[in-house]
Amino acid sequence: MGRVLLAHFDTGPANLYLERVDVAEFQEALLQQMERKTHWAWPAFTGGLVPKDKLHIHLEHEWAVYVRDFPIMVGRAYVQCPIAEVRRELAENLYEEETGGLAAGKPHPELFMMYPQGLGMDLDRFANVQLLPAARAYREFLDDATSNRGWAIAAAISTIFIEGTAHERHELDASAPPRPAPPLEEHPLARHYGLPLECLALTKAHRSVEGEHRTAAWNVMLNHLPKSDRVDVVRSMSQAIDAWSAYRDDVAEACGITRAQLPLSA
Ligand SMILES: [Fe+2]
Ligand SMILES: [Fe+2]
Repeated sequence: MGRVLLAHFDTGPANLYLERVDVAEFQEALLQQMERKTHWAWPAFTGGLVPKDKLHIHLEHEWAVYVRDFPIMVGRAYVQCPIAEVRRELAENLYEEETGGLAAGKPHPELFMMYPQGLGMDLDRFANVQLLPAARAYREFLDDATSNRGWAIAAAISTIFIEGTAHERHELDASAPPRPAPPLEEHPLARHYGLPLECLALTKAHRSVEGEHRTAAWNVMLNHLPKSDRVDVVRSMSQAIDAWSAYRDDVAEACGITRAQLPLSA
């Protein structure tokens, strides 16, 4: 299946295509959207090019834009969903994210805060983050998509888009490249910024439990989503990528990163 199928979702009135989007086409369209979830400035964050005194901008934005409230976003999908089997999957994800009760031992947002703590950042900043303009727009998109567009879009945006990566294809096809999982000592925050390894508890927890969240998320999308929601889900996914990219552009600029600093292939 080629790139061309995205055109079905990007143009024309939705109802023209509703009946034509079979589950294989829907899956491929979602995967192609997720493969767009890469950002030109990311190699600067993973390669230690962001000055240490600017790194808080990245972490406090991730915190305020989605990490702090991620369990609430999954909860919004939960309360809107009429399908008990889907609610059970969402409830399990929500419970783990909110409490760490199944795997991590602590709420995932709390584990995230070990990054700025371990790096010696001023934690007061995290209580009152001033969002950059595209960050505010992205957050508004996330709130709208998870609150006002029905459970299918809320679930897709929270469990596929936010939790997922550009390597989603591997979740459905073992021959596709997996998300890289280098040893913790090579984690960019440890390697370039001196974060103690014990502060990488969230990274560790995600490696142990996120596989289940990925499987559950795709099971919901492919086996439980009403056919009539497929086009709108892909459209919302495409909007999410665009809003996220603009958000990451703003963070890169505020961190002093320009394209000229990066290899051409990045
Ligand atoms: Fe998590
Ligand atoms: Fe999760």
